[in-house]
Amino acid sequence: MPGMTARLGCAVAAFALLAACGGASAPPFQPVADVKQLMASVLEPAADVYWDAVGSIVDEKGVMEFSPQSSEEWDGARNSAYVIAESGNLLMMSPRAKDAGEWMTLSRALVDVGQKAIRAAESRDKSGVFDVGAEVYDACTNCHAKYAVELARPGS
Ligand code: HEC
Repeated sequence: MPGMTARLGCAVAAFALLAACGGASAPPFQPVADVKQLMASVLEPAADVYWDAVGSIVDEKGVMEFSPQSSEEWDGARNSAYVIAESGNLLMMSPRAKDAGEWMTLSRALVDVGQKAIRAAESRDKSGVFDVGAEVYDACTNCHAKYAVELARPGS
C-alpha cells in the first residue's frame, strides 16, 4: 500500500530530522553571524556599553565617579544587558555551538549573568551594575579560556 509506505517513510524522516511531513517542524531561523562575527559585532559592543555605564576615572583632580544620569542612559545599560543575555542563546544555536556539553554550559552562564545584569540596570543599582559587570567579564573569559585561548582578554 503506497499510503502506508508514505506514512512509514514520514515517521522515519520525522524521527531522523525532527522536521518532516507536517509534524513538529524546525524553526526557520537562519544564523547570519558566525561565532567571531557575533562576538565582534553583537556581544562585545553590548558588553562595552554595560561595562562603561558605571565606574570611576582617576586623574590629577581626584576620583570622578560616573553612572547613568537619565532614564535613557539606564535604558541603554539595560538594553545592552538584554543583548548579552540573548547572545548566550544565539551561541547555543547550530552551527555556532561547538559541542553539546561545556559549550552549552558556558553559553547558558552568559544567559544567566545577562539576566542578572538586566535586573541590576532595571533597579538602577549602580554598584549592582558594577559588580555584575565583573561577573559578565568572567562569563566571557571562562569560555575563551577553553574555546578561544588565543584571546588574552575579551576585546583584545
Ligand atoms: C560560549 C563561549 C563564549 C562566550 C560566553 C564568549 N565568547 Fe567571545 N569568543 C568565543 C570564541 C570561540 C571566540 C573565537 C572566535 C573565532 O575566532 O572564530 C571568541 C572571540 C571573541 C572576540 C574576538 C572576535 C574577533 O574579531 O576576533 C571578542 C572581542 C569576544 N569574543 C568578546 C566576548 C565578550 C565581550 C564576551 C562576554 C560578554 C564573550 N566574548 C563571551 C566564545 C565565547
